[in-house]
Amino acid sequence: MEGTIPALKLKQLILVDGLSLKDGLNLLFFDGITNKDFLDGTGLQFKSVTVGKYLCAEAGGGNIIVANRTSASGWETFSLWRINATNFNFRVFNKQFVGFGTNGNGIEIVAVSSTPGRSETFEIVRSSNDSSRVRIKASNGFFLQAKTEELVTADYAGESKWGDDDPSVFVMTIAGRLQGEFQVTNGYGPELAPGVMTDHWRTFIRPHASTTLCRRAPLRALDNAFVWAQNHGLKVVIDLHAAPGSQNGWEHSSSRDGSQEWGQTDANIQQTVDVIDFLAARYAKSPSLYAVELINEPRAPGASLDSVTRYYKAGYDAVRKHSSTAYVVMSNRLSSDDPRELFPLASGLTGSVIDVHYYNLFSDVFNSMSVQQNIDFINTNRSADLSFVTTSNGPLSFVGEWVAEWAIQGATKEDYQRFAKAQLEVFGRASFGWAYWTLKNVNNHWSLEWMIKNGYIKL
Ligand SMILES: *[C@@H]1O[C@H](CO)[C@@H](O)[C@H](O)[C@H]1NC(C)=O
Ligand SMILES: *[C@@H]1O[C@H](CO)[C@@H](O)[C@H](O)[C@H]1NC(C)=O
Ligand SMILES: *[C@@H]1O[C@H](CO)[C@@H](O)[C@H](O)[C@H]1NC(C)=O
Ligand SMILES: *[C@@H]1O[C@H](CO)[C@@H](O)[C@H](O)[C@H]1NC(C)=O
Repeated sequence: MEGTIPALKLKQLILVDGLSLKDGLNLLFFDGITNKDFLDGTGLQFKSVTVGKYLCAEAGGGNIIVANRTSASGWETFSLWRINATNFNFRVFNKQFVGFGTNGNGIEIVAVSSTPGRSETFEIVRSSNDSSRVRIKASNGFFLQAKTEELVTADYAGESKWGDDDPSVFVMTIAGRLQGEFQVTNGYGPELAPGVMTDHWRTFIRPHASTTLCRRAPLRALDNAFVWAQNHGLKVVIDLHAAPGSQNGWEHSSSRDGSQEWGQTDANIQQTVDVIDFLAARYAKSPSLYAVELINEPRAPGASLDSVTRYYKAGYDAVRKHSSTAYVVMSNRLSSDDPRELFPLASGLTGSVIDVHYYNLFSDVFNSMSVQQNIDFINTNRSADLSFVTTSNGPLSFVGEWVAEWAIQGATKEDYQRFAKAQLEVFGRASFGWAYWTLKNVNNHWSLEWMIKNGYIKL
């Protein structure tokens, strides 16, 4: 439909926050961040060299730290909140921070505080000849040691020879890391980060003409999108990708440490409504405003149907306060088993749109599929899925993200062409249209611009 292609071209420009690796930020990532092992959200596990077991937040947190686990998973993983290149808070499974206990002699290590302060701040010191060996210095100036399997204290003084007989030495494993805007910005630090981000917003996507609007701050990038769109007769769909607390736990919702807390309080729902109100007010008068998508990919069950529905109702009203014509797009919850769960709400709201994202990726079922099976899956399964949410009297349907990439290695150009063509045909039946993820990406097949220029996709 009219507006479909212009809308997709701008989708990438209009992330309000939460750019992620898949948008190309990895171009920035490995270039210049010195201590990139220790960015926000990195999950670390520590095995005591003397006890031979992992540190663990007993019961997941709210309790003592012990050193009695033979293997490491959730309770044994400590997520970094970075203060600077050497100092950190450690957040545990149940979201408390590691710090000093208040009982006894005040050197016992616990995970009870829900906000980090000085006593929850630790320095990580790495061995110079084996970067997997670390010592952890507490705010009292002493190092943590595993005294016994059940007693971890901050009372080890002095230097270390880093040997297997030193109870203050731990072998560190990196259990996971995030590569989002939060991580980029604190990786570069407060002095460099604003310049790095501004440069990215200013240069990553530009109009072909020589116009370069060089203003600072992310909001300026969004203003640019509207100016460029108007100059080129395009329409803009604003899509809020990062809501306070994170609605899905991934980098692109700007989760700090992989946690998902959006929608759990009235306060963070209201804050999100306020952002929509602000954006709608700012752009309602632009002839290029086509739609406002209230939030990208809230994920079940963390984002409950109840909180998502309450938010969508309030967000819809916030848009309508400023515009009677802008479409209001509601992203289906990921991992929900009912693709029509928003229909009771959306059917009663004029100009509402349901957004579904279809990737032949991110699930094991695609790993063993052949080229033809991938294409058949589009023609049968996706086609049926889309029909189910495309109704004559309900909300419009939008395939707001898809990509001509799959789990197949070594596919030919012709394979890709057929795969893309099948998706264009099927997703073209969505009543609101579709958007390719994404316009420009460091991975060629994820870059619509590259795919068109190189003859993989023909519109
Ligand atoms: C890092 O943060 C700690 C704790 O706030 C502070 O004591 C230290 O001086 C900082 N180091 C640098 C290099 O800024
Ligand atoms: C690191 O160097 C120290 C001092 O030379 C040595 O005692 C220790 O065994 C070395 N550790 C490793 C893991 O190479
Ligand atoms: C580890 O120590 C804690 C505290 O004493 C105890 O409750 C827990 O059962 C121990 N776990 C294992 C696996 O030994
Ligand atoms: C796709 O749809 C077919 C036909 O309805 C069904 O048999 C098959 O299990 C579906 N495939 C997947 C991976 O869900």
